Amino acid sequence: MTTYPVQVVIFGASGDLTARKLIPALVDNASRGAFQTPVQIIGVARHPKTSESWRAELATWLSDDQRAAWDAFAPNVFYTQADVDDPASIEELAADLDELAGEHAATCGRLFYLALAPRLFAPTVERLAHIGMLTSDPLRAEGWRRVVIEKPFGTDLATAQWLNIVLGRHLREDQIYRIDHYLGKESVQNLLAFRFTNAIWEPLWNRAHVDSVEISVCEAVGVADRGGYYDHAGALRDMVQNHLMQLLALVAMEAPTSMSPEAVRSEKVKVLRALVPFTSPEDVWRDVVRAQYVDPSENPGYLQAPGVAEDSATETFVAIRAQIHNWRWNGVPFLLRTGKSLRKRYTEIILRFRAPPVDLFTAPTTSVLAGSFCSMQPNELVMRIQPDEGIRIRFLVKQPGPGNVMRLASLGFDYKDVFDERSPEAYERLLLDAIEGNPTLFIRGDEAEAAWRFCDAIHAAWDAPDAPPPGRYEAGSTGPEEADSLFRGCEGIWGHGGV
Ligand code: BG6
Repeated sequence: MTTYPVQVVIFGASGDLTARKLIPALVDNASRGAFQTPVQIIGVARHPKTSESWRAELATWLSDDQRAAWDAFAPNVFYTQADVDDPASIEELAADLDELAGEHAATCGRLFYLALAPRLFAPTVERLAHIGMLTSDPLRAEGWRRVVIEKPFGTDLATAQWLNIVLGRHLREDQIYRIDHYLGKESVQNLLAFRFTNAIWEPLWNRAHVDSVEISVCEAVGVADRGGYYDHAGALRDMVQNHLMQLLALVAMEAPTSMSPEAVRSEKVKVLRALVPFTSPEDVWRDVVRAQYVDPSENPGYLQAPGVAEDSATETFVAIRAQIHNWRWNGVPFLLRTGKSLRKRYTEIILRFRAPPVDLFTAPTTSVLAGSFCSMQPNELVMRIQPDEGIRIRFLVKQPGPGNVMRLASLGFDYKDVFDERSPEAYERLLLDAIEGNPTLFIRGDEAEAAWRFCDAIHAAWDAPDAPPPGRYEAGSTGPEEADSLFRGCEGIWGHGGV
């Protein structure tokens, strides 16, 4: 076991993310004894504060359980005032860190967490590198230096490529931890475990048996007070380029040769590169739906949210019919959907399987879907990511009695029924992995670029002068009706998040 201490240096210490997610996650890790070595937390921001006043502020964000552990944890929490735009203050920060590390200054590992406005990612890394704070020997276990970069990683392919180049000038790829908190969710990590430890799925998990794949990330909240950021991002940049692309990669990838970070990430990047890019505006109008929420009541719609331009065309909902051009998935539509201010919060992945070749039990289960006469309801494998995490298989059974009346039935697994222990929060797992040097659940540079390449083609069509404006949907609804048209023929309809 290594005994050199670790310093977690959080830039953006005054921000919401630090108080709401990072510190509670570090406290939880400490209280369940997850750290192998002593860990110091050093918050860095421009505001004048003392360590004592910062600790008092942080304590107000903790749950009762976390507060019980806080007394033992708080003495390891420090605050340093510094401005990343000011080289002198970064030099002072370096001296402060050495002083806090004491006799371990030369050997301690340092995790720099950039919970900052994205425009500060590159300058902060450059400043730290300039005075040698990011230099480490890859052959030595101690004295490591790693940098966690929050999202968004760029705003399009060109900016992501530029950021990768700048980071690459100062850091090796194994020092860069691009975070996507969805990968830290227990139910997301289970996707690979479920697929690759249960051999029954593999023969079915392909174009021969799967008719369509749906990935829905529905949110009930609106943009609240994040309008200033969100209005420049929109659902495609905020959710699809990262969270939905990651879910898609995990569902669609081939089995890696091992669970090593490079083996897993290489398979993910292959899927993202196999996504068929939209090549014409007509394809985008046919296969992508964008919309904005409005509220008919006194509650504000998107355009009334603070920080949002009054004539904003930013989408708060997007649905995409995507295709993956490879042997496993060619011809199988991947229906992606995400939106804010929807009826219900849930994230679900549904594999819908092909109908039997011959329909012997037509009458009561036939339906007219999208104008086509479709028989039977498809078998579905539903992976519920959140809330009520679990997995369901839906199938038809014969209802007892005369005739052949079929009913939908299901078999299910619910985390809460099987596991007593609390699942770690996403940031808890990801911070621990970054401290331990395991980047499997972080995004590699080429992965981020591949996801942007797909999204950029959609933005190009939306940004054209003659592009139709986004549609509208009522806050609290299931989204715009136009999204239903992305299901074709007998492919079914969007799930509704029912258990
Ligand atoms: C963030 C987005 O990355 O994910 C937010 O910026 C979104 O807009 C959030 O609300 C959703 O995360 P979760 O874990 O609540 O599903």
